[in-house]
Amino acid sequence: MTVLRTEPTLWGFPLKWVSLVTLVVQNSALALVMSYSRHKRDPSQPAYLVSTAVVMSEFIKLAVCVAVYARDEAAIGRLSMQTFLTDMFGRDSHWKKMTVPAVLYFVQNNLQYVAVQYLDPATFQVTYQMKILTTALFSVMLLNRTLSRTKWISLIMLTFGIAIVQMDGKKTESGVGGMEKLLGLAAVTVACILSGLAGVWFEKVLKGTQASLFLRNMQLCLFSLIPGLFFGVFMMDGTAVQEDGFFQGYTAWTWGAILCQAIGGLIVALVVKYADNILKGFATSLSIILSSIASFFLFDFRLTFLFTIGSSVVLYATHLYGRHCECSSNIMNGM
Ligand code: C5P
Repeated sequence: MTVLRTEPTLWGFPLKWVSLVTLVVQNSALALVMSYSRHKRDPSQPAYLVSTAVVMSEFIKLAVCVAVYARDEAAIGRLSMQTFLTDMFGRDSHWKKMTVPAVLYFVQNNLQYVAVQYLDPATFQVTYQMKILTTALFSVMLLNRTLSRTKWISLIMLTFGIAIVQMDGKKTESGVGGMEKLLGLAAVTVACILSGLAGVWFEKVLKGTQASLFLRNMQLCLFSLIPGLFFGVFMMDGTAVQEDGFFQGYTAWTWGAILCQAIGGLIVALVVKYADNILKGFATSLSIILSSIASFFLFDFRLTFLFTIGSSVVLYATHLYGRHCECSSNIMNGM
């Protein structure tokens, strides 16, 4: 039976497509702007502290979510500190479950900066596609989802494609050594595992509750801010912050990277709400092509035979995975 629904729009365009196109642009920009922020700086100045950048990004997301929440609650005459606190911590016990993805995302967001430090943007992005694989595996394990044979094949292809890109060795690197590349690869691999687990966990909590996306994201940001401030800024970088300040080494590119990460987080949430995780995978694949082209011009990045073959396999695998969509991933169905 077909159920007709009116699609939400922004300035007349379906929000689903607005959020996806924005994700493509944001994802391409993220890897490049992050790389620029780490590499293109005045060597006489200290590098900015990643811990502070991650905290700032969570803070911006939290501010946006609070503003949207306040607007929505004010519209129905329900806005008060009491209802805010009840919504955040009192209505159900699900808020406690949000601490898990919050901490996972906190670590993942830090690792992204480590990865772009040691890998060129294009290699980072192709390797980061491994999160499709980890998300699928965690969906099978935690959500008891089953995957068709084609999906498994496309996941194996994806892994091969990423391996081919890695075999490319020094040819595609922008001047980083073997050990540093290994560090970058380790960072991106762990980030993929955390991304998969955090995403599936978030999905599981959302499906089982009625709370709005912005409320859940407020909880996510708040619970990421706590370890971000305590472990990141205070414990890891406390001395540096005391000596040279919280915003040491900040440039326009740092603010660009922070904004990109913040906007990205909000778009990921919207894409999951108005489109689905599969389409999200497509959007990020498209952004690989965009950032490879941009890396070619901006970072002296040479498109080699192996890189081209490997990325094509990754893109085809993503396409195959999306085409045989069981569409069970529209996680907002339960909201
Ligand atoms: O897709 P991926 O795992 O890379 O997206 C993760 C990014 O999106 C992280 O930066 C995370 O903090 C952010 N995010 C968010 N809100 C969500 C889901 C993810 O801010 N609901």
